[in-house]
Amino acid sequence: MQRNSRFITSNQTGIHDQLHDLIQRRAASDYLKPIAPSSRLAFNTATRAWRDANKSLLIIDAGCGVGLSTRRLARLYPDHFVIGIDQSSDRLSRQVEWPSDAPDNFTTVRADVVDFWRLLRAAAIYPSHHYLLYPNPWPKKHHLARRWHAHPVFPSVLELGGYIECRSNWKIYVEEFAAAVTAMSGIDAECESFVPSSSPLTPFEEKYLASGHELWRCRLHLPVTNR
Ligand SMILES: C[S@@+](CC[C@H](N)C(=O)[O-])C[C@H]1O[C@@H](n2cnc3c(N)ncnc32)[C@H](O)[C@@H]1O
Repeated sequence: MQRNSRFITSNQTGIHDQLHDLIQRRAASDYLKPIAPSSRLAFNTATRAWRDANKSLLIIDAGCGVGLSTRRLARLYPDHFVIGIDQSSDRLSRQVEWPSDAPDNFTTVRADVVDFWRLLRAAAIYPSHHYLLYPNPWPKKHHLARRWHAHPVFPSVLELGGYIECRSNWKIYVEEFAAAVTAMSGIDAECESFVPSSSPLTPFEEKYLASGHELWRCRLHLPVTNR
């Protein structure tokens, strides 16, 4: 277990001064980047696995890495089906150590989650739970637009509704996430410090805890938005 993960350093000391302007621009415009054929294929494969499993409720694990959290969520929610999405085939193909009675109510797929979110929205598939666990923080100030809450896809993510939870070891990321959710949805969202009550949910969480990092999360319930 890695115990020496470096603390995030940034030239930002608080919520980015451009965040609110950017959010307003995102809310006022549609994101028109074409969806990759490979994402469509992955979406069809994953949603077919979900339908074949005969579980009506769906959980999305966005940026699932090696998929350990996908399996753990499947174990935690046996009445749901969990889809873990990651763009890295290297991560997805790594062996995940798991006790012999592995859950079968999940799948992991390689896809750009930016496309996957928009495909869910277009298909009117609304997950009951949605996890964004330790997304790449992009801590440099000029990287703001790469953070999920400032990305042009974010309005589509919020439109999916349901329980949404974002975790990070960078407090500013979660503060911005909460501010963006509130600005776009009108629903109060907060950044809170937390310590996992049981074992860590993801490998990144495990390594941050072992390295003495404080963990932050924003969690809330959102209504589905039709437009
Ligand atoms: C910091 S890692 C966290 C992985 C995992 N959630 C964890 O906590 O152990 C961020 C993950 O997001 C994935 N990712 C980043 N951008 C993505 C995108 N556009 N589509 C799919 N996955 C993405 C990366 O490949 C990486 O596995």
